[in-house]
Amino acid sequence: MTEFATLTIDGKTLELPILIGTEGERAIDIRTLRQETGFITYDPGYGSTGCCKSEITFMDGEKGILRYRGIPIEQLAEHSSFVETSYLLLHGRLPSREELTRTSVMLNDQSLVHEDMQIFYQNFPRGSHPMGILSAMVNALRSFYPELMADDEGFEITFLRLLSKVRTMAAMSYKISRGHKVVYPRPDYTYCANFLNMMFDTPVKPYVLDKDMVKALNVFWILHGDHEQNCSTATVRTVGSARANIYASLSAGISALWGPLHGGANQKVIEMLTQIHREGLGISEVIANAKDKNNPFRLMGFGHRVYKTYDPRAKIMKQMCDTVLPKLEIHDPLLDIAKALEEIALSDSYFIDHNLYPNVDFYSGILLRAMGIPTSMFTVMFAIGRLPGWIAQWKENLDDPEQRICRPRQIYMGRNANDYVPFNDR
Ligand code: ACO
Repeated sequence: MTEFATLTIDGKTLELPILIGTEGERAIDIRTLRQETGFITYDPGYGSTGCCKSEITFMDGEKGILRYRGIPIEQLAEHSSFVETSYLLLHGRLPSREELTRTSVMLNDQSLVHEDMQIFYQNFPRGSHPMGILSAMVNALRSFYPELMADDEGFEITFLRLLSKVRTMAAMSYKISRGHKVVYPRPDYTYCANFLNMMFDTPVKPYVLDKDMVKALNVFWILHGDHEQNCSTATVRTVGSARANIYASLSAGISALWGPLHGGANQKVIEMLTQIHREGLGISEVIANAKDKNNPFRLMGFGHRVYKTYDPRAKIMKQMCDTVLPKLEIHDPLLDIAKALEEIALSDSYFIDHNLYPNVDFYSGILLRAMGIPTSMFTVMFAIGRLPGWIAQWKENLDDPEQRICRPRQIYMGRNANDYVPFNDR
């Protein structure tokens, strides 16, 4: 039975339906508000606004819970692969063995990139950021693969094409940026193994696959698979709501993710740690700068709009660093700085009072660095991991009969009507 919230405004009483999610989240359905009262709501940054009903990801920021299709992220990180998790995100259930094999075969079939696309890469100015290139290239894919996704099978192929080709394109852009020969995907390698091989194999030093590295990459991408309505996902949904094609919608999502307050933070974390190391800054000085309201400096990799406790992904990422780095016999001074920062921040009253905990980006940079991924590629790595989530969210939005084109309102605070004044009279 539907419950209602009562709103009395301008002497008028409105009964607004209450929606309750399967995990008990409550929302007031205000769709009739403007029509009935003339009022709109004001919520910059959408902290109290739900824009959709979704069945994909559940997160509880107070308790530090993250689940894809109901399955805890910890279990997926331990037992699943990125390809299997991608299937789960898109289809809403785990695949059978046959379905997973078929998905892997199709990913291999789709892994090559049209040779003409290499020309694009070569014409970007040197020093272009890989996220700018990736966003442009994903949009360009629409011109190379213009078929419409008329049915579920067409959509499945588009999904696999994107997942497979974006990985190839990312490795290709790295090779081209270094002036190296592009390495083609191998059909006998799994998704993550293929990426590592395409990145690091060279004619003079063949890449030897390491199962710990493959596992680490699987975990990294699983942890980034989806995160419900964050900035980039909301962007993908918003662009898709105008019925823009999936490539254009994802390209917009990639641009949003690039921002240093969002996915770009993983690069910024390493830059911050490097600066602390290079300039020999004291940890307490850095913490003091982060707390100083007159200083724009923020501790990168700390804080989250929704998590008000430890980000569960950061916990797994930290464990991954603790296992992978010793195995690789890497001693990274930046990891020591990161640990010292974390320790002090977690016991500092400013960080405690503001509920500021390390987020996923805090440790992911360290892990990617250990794997040999260049810093400028960090956010691209995030984007590859987020693809299945974006695609699942884009599709869910498209299939939801309650969704309309996104069109927020505003409260105009500008000048009232006034007349145009000719130059001579100004
Ligand atoms: N260092 C120092 N202070 C911080 C930090 C930080 N990293 N993050 C938030 N604060 C403080 C703010 O100064 C503000 O203080 P005040 O209330 O005393 O004025 C308070 O905490 C709330 O901050 P907001 O910016 O209002 O929080 P919001 O939810 O809008 O922003 C965000 C969240 C963008 C993640 C923010 O915490 C931040 O900038 N973090 C650093 C960048 C980062 O790591 N981004 C990655 C996010 S995770 C992801 O996208 C994968």
